[in-house]
Amino acid sequence: MTAYANFPGSRPRRLRTTPTMRRMVAETRLDPANLILPAFVREGIDAPVAISAMPGVHQHTLDTLRKAAVEAVSAGVSGIMLFGVPEDGKKDARGTAGTDPDGILQVALRAVREEVGDELVVMSDLCLDEFTDHGHCGVLDADGRVDNDATLERYAEMAQVQADAGAHVVGPSGMMDGQVGVIRDALDQTGHEDVSILAYTVKYSSAFYGPFREAVGSSLTGDRKTYQQDPANARESLRELALDLAEGADMVMVKPAGPYLDILAKVAESVDVPVAAYQISGEYAMIEAAAEKGWIDRDKAILESLTGIRRAGAQMILTYWATEAAQWLGHGR
Ligand code: PBG
Repeated sequence: MTAYANFPGSRPRRLRTTPTMRRMVAETRLDPANLILPAFVREGIDAPVAISAMPGVHQHTLDTLRKAAVEAVSAGVSGIMLFGVPEDGKKDARGTAGTDPDGILQVALRAVREEVGDELVVMSDLCLDEFTDHGHCGVLDADGRVDNDATLERYAEMAQVQADAGAHVVGPSGMMDGQVGVIRDALDQTGHEDVSILAYTVKYSSAFYGPFREAVGSSLTGDRKTYQQDPANARESLRELALDLAEGADMVMVKPAGPYLDILAKVAESVDVPVAAYQISGEYAMIEAAAEKGWIDRDKAILESLTGIRRAGAQMILTYWATEAAQWLGHGR
């Protein structure tokens, strides 16, 4: 086969010989503490409602949300990100229910804090799309365009009511310019200096959000291309990153995760704050659907997808599999 006596001189396979050897040399570890559970809570229902495009995920009642939070704690999950789904008929052009102290998201924040205290980092989606009748992430101007600066005023109010309701962290996801700075000011001026901002710094306009729109009963027609990023762009993400850091982001997020691992790696290399990635609804749905058809091994595919996101540089991963994956990984409390 070869003229060399000791060919091949280098044998990387030596370090792959046994499971213990592979475990020892693994560069990336997944720990339940890396995981954050996104959860939907819907107003006015007395039993959880299944989301057809996300098998296994439900719109929670307040009661099942509490249970899901407790389960996440015992699995060792670090955080929960809450999304509110208001009752039909409570949506309006300004997303009033989003800033109502008794709106569903605020009620849910109080319930989860009451249930688990500080055992989970309790986070809230800070965006208007679940609460507006037009489904956009902000308020509209006279010509029907999303009005950046008018939206910022609404975000400032949202930040305060979410913090009042007990959010440890707010997660602005609307991609308005200046949102992090305005929210930081609003929190500081209302005595919430300790509430952190997990900025959705890099958020692409993605087809993979499809199942989420069912999950929150979105009213959106059209798209979010005038505020979410173009998937063709990479440098733009570094610009968004610089702005969010300058405005006071405590943690930054890249979203979606799987199709944007190059962006995630770039962001993770260039910051000194914790980096999160959101494995979104479409990423979840694709694996579940293929597994249901028997085309891939579900559990292995889930763990591989999470490992890839972690390897690319995310310290925190928002994933609908958080509790289940954490249970597999052990170290539960
Ligand atoms: C906006 C928001 C969205 C998601 C999280 N926050 C939807 C959007 O931008 O259209 C998507 C999450 C997912 O797809 O899992 N509030």
